Amino acid sequence: MPRFRLISDIVAHKSGALVLPLRRARGKAQWSAAARTVDGALGGTVARVLRRGDFSAKAGEVCVLHAHRFRHERVFLAGMGEGGAEGEDDGFFAAFAAVAKNAEGRTVTVALPSPLSGGLLRRAAWAAAAGGYRFRRGGHFPGAGVFSDVAFVAPKTFAGTMREAAAVAEGGMQTRHLAEQPANVCDPPFLAAAARAAAKKYDGLRAEVLGPAQLRKLKMGALLAVAQGSRKPAQLIVLRYAGKRGDGGRKADVALVGKGVTFDTGGISLKPAAAMDEMKFDMAGAAAVFGTMCAVAKMRLPLNVAAVIPACENMPGGAAVKPGDVVVAMNGASVEVLNTDAEGRLILADALCYAQKRFSPQVLIDAATLTGACVIALGAHFSGMFSGGEALAAELEKAGEESSDRCWRLPLGAKYKKQLKSDYADLANIGGRSAGAVTAACFLSHFVEGGGDGKGGKCEWAHLDVAGTAWTAKKRATARPVPLLANYLRRRAKNKRG
Ligand code: BES
Ligand code: MN
Ligand code: ZN
Repeated sequence: MPRFRLISDIVAHKSGALVLPLRRARGKAQWSAAARTVDGALGGTVARVLRRGDFSAKAGEVCVLHAHRFRHERVFLAGMGEGGAEGEDDGFFAAFAAVAKNAEGRTVTVALPSPLSGGLLRRAAWAAAAGGYRFRRGGHFPGAGVFSDVAFVAPKTFAGTMREAAAVAEGGMQTRHLAEQPANVCDPPFLAAAARAAAKKYDGLRAEVLGPAQLRKLKMGALLAVAQGSRKPAQLIVLRYAGKRGDGGRKADVALVGKGVTFDTGGISLKPAAAMDEMKFDMAGAAAVFGTMCAVAKMRLPLNVAAVIPACENMPGGAAVKPGDVVVAMNGASVEVLNTDAEGRLILADALCYAQKRFSPQVLIDAATLTGACVIALGAHFSGMFSGGEALAAELEKAGEESSDRCWRLPLGAKYKKQLKSDYADLANIGGRSAGAVTAACFLSHFVEGGGDGKGGKCEWAHLDVAGTAWTAKKRATARPVPLLANYLRRRAKNKRG
């Protein structure tokens, strides 16, 4: 992780690269106060580049200037597009990726356009961390990455925001690191060990790991059924952060649940070979919940947050669960496993039961790479969001917009849930071809008391299907939905102090 900090004077500061993000309007780059300062120091070079049409601030456009007798070795004009967080983010990513290409860009200065907002600073810090990130195989924590120091030109009033932004960026790096590990490195015991290591590293964070014997005692028949085809043991990883003083953190304000299938072959309902390697990312929900907990601990939010991560591998084999098998989840509900590839909902069922029973949370949110159908519905831009509660749905939408990690609400309901009817059990684990992302969410709702509407003293629940957003077409982790979750928790802590 780079060191993030604030500086006041662009010209006096020294660095390998100065990133100068510029907005665009009516087809032209817009001047900012920072751009004028830099232009002055460079004897009018920025003005010349703009006048000659070599840079027009399209989203993601980058123009490199080499300066003579300037304390920043190079200047990167970064196009932010016509407005809206998406173009702005493309611009940040492109600029930081360009800077990261060259080793001399280890120290970076960023001169954001005004009006500067907390959201802008957070998004820029996230992009800087992502641009400087480099994959490293093995180990429980990400490597240092390319940048050693990233300085933002901003007034001291943004110091608190800068600390929070750095915490979230660091959580995101943790998520990327875990999500991108090959499945022969990142198996359920590896995730468990990473959780123990994180609890050592972060103040206020505690880890517990339940193994197969304890899971049997808890009657987690659904999680154990998915794990039984693999030689790797199932692990239920619990991370707790107690941010309220004088409170042991036995109950949680918010509980997070993350799907941790470290590799999804489909099981006996085997997946086709093409792109099956991408199923190493089937623990991206778990990685995001993990990274969010690191961010929450680092931010020292005054909240109690619990994370429950069911981790296992979905493999075919002599002992594997078979189509038609009936398994019983922790809450006593029986499930007919009609397709062993619909395994995420099975392991989440037990984890959701456990999270409610142990932590009685006010809010319960799960994140999972749950369905291919969600990728068809929403693609890579929005995560699918399902919620039994109106207030929670609205809050998640807002938190996603502000952190440009957006989600789009899809419906739940009895009419869809009917598709899960089974003659042999309380419900089947698949609901036919139509509305696959919705029926998967309906399946989960069966394991949330009261359906997650927050009424009658029960929790409010939301499910985030990140199958389309957790990794890219280039097979790189995005660390979504860490920005959304971390921002939701930050906003919640701010609105409800104590
Ligand atoms: N992990 C997959 C979902 C997935 C597929 C995520 C492709 C990202 C890209 C999940 O376990 C799965 O296999 N779901 C099945 C469900 C079906 C059998 C009802 C699917 O979506 O095909
Ligand atoms: Mn599957
Ligand atoms: Zn899966």
